[in-house]
Amino acid sequence: MKRHYLLLLMAACMTAACTTTDNQAQPADTASAVIQAATQQIGHQVRLIERSGQILNPRTVQNGHVQYIPIDDWTSGFFPGTMWYMYDLTGDSTWIPYAIKYTENLDSVKNLRWHHDIGFMINTSYGNALRCTGNQAYADVIVEAARSLCTRFRPAAGVIQSWDETRGWQGTRGWMCPVIIDNMMNLEILFKATQLTGDSSFYQIAVSHADQTLQHHFRPDGSCYHVVDYDKEQGGVRSRQTAQGYADESAWARGQGWALYGFALCYRYTGDERYLEQCRRVHDFIFGDANMPADLVPYWDYDAPDIPNEPRDASAAAVIASALYELAQYIPEYRQEADRIVESLSTPNYLALVGTNGNFLLMHSVGSIPHDAEIDVPLNYADYYFLEALLRQKGQLLEKR
Ligand code: GLY
Repeated sequence: MKRHYLLLLMAACMTAACTTTDNQAQPADTASAVIQAATQQIGHQVRLIERSGQILNPRTVQNGHVQYIPIDDWTSGFFPGTMWYMYDLTGDSTWIPYAIKYTENLDSVKNLRWHHDIGFMINTSYGNALRCTGNQAYADVIVEAARSLCTRFRPAAGVIQSWDETRGWQGTRGWMCPVIIDNMMNLEILFKATQLTGDSSFYQIAVSHADQTLQHHFRPDGSCYHVVDYDKEQGGVRSRQTAQGYADESAWARGQGWALYGFALCYRYTGDERYLEQCRRVHDFIFGDANMPADLVPYWDYDAPDIPNEPRDASAAAVIASALYELAQYIPEYRQEADRIVESLSTPNYLALVGTNGNFLLMHSVGSIPHDAEIDVPLNYADYYFLEALLRQKGQLLEKR
């Protein structure tokens, strides 16, 4: 407890490092209204959890009940990260002790080696904690997590293996070394680990993975496959399939978002123009496809059979918007699409009324239709990337390379 107060004090002193007065946002009124609603919704969520006397981690709503997840779930970093972003957005330091408490609850995640999502989990929680507080103990967690992620690197194929080929439903697919496009997001802790330690091996693994993905995950139209299965002994591709999309040859919407965001972050850390060029190709697919709706919130899969009577995926839209703000530093016209997405997500079509939606911000996301899971529901990562997009719209969290 004592430690929490010390960290709180230190974090409060770091306010200036975490916030900025560089407000570039045009639609300030909409943004303020959304931040006000978020303050109430996430505030209710935190108070409810605190009243339970437990440390709970909300992911979604099922049959009217909030679903809480264990810390080894791939989405466990988003709720702590959301609290850091609420602090960033409001400047209100009362968020900090909660952000610290829910982040530090994930400490043992740094040792997780049985799936690749440790990058998502640690970057969204400890990555933000380090940024906002400068606490070196958080840097140590990120580096340890990066070491754990590197145990999944398969040198012959040059990639980080996403899922174990023998575990769970993934173990029924006959894969040898499945890599999903989502894995691009996990590279951020590797780049950070090299910055924090000076050890370039993390960076080299990240670049190897990004290069293999660049070469093998994309179609000529710029869209990407969800799963590429590699031969981890000989190297090379065994097959290209889907797990969460409509079909092997379809374009799963959130996967396109992970591709855009993933190569944008690789460009940020490396300056390699090939990665920026790949972002252009992915962007051109996302916005050039005839099935993108006018409000720029995509259907869950670009090739879903019953468009326009298919669920939208607000989480994909939020990921895409956040990535576009980063890319707009280099390709300014992308800002218009990002603003349009944020505007759409800020309407009652997607933004829940305060006190509804299990106290999540956004409605209408999709987890995985092929698994009949989380269809047209709130998701903690939709909220996280939406808040991140709002911050980036305001000129915050934009690391120029
Ligand atoms: N990374 C898992 C998903 O996007 O659903």
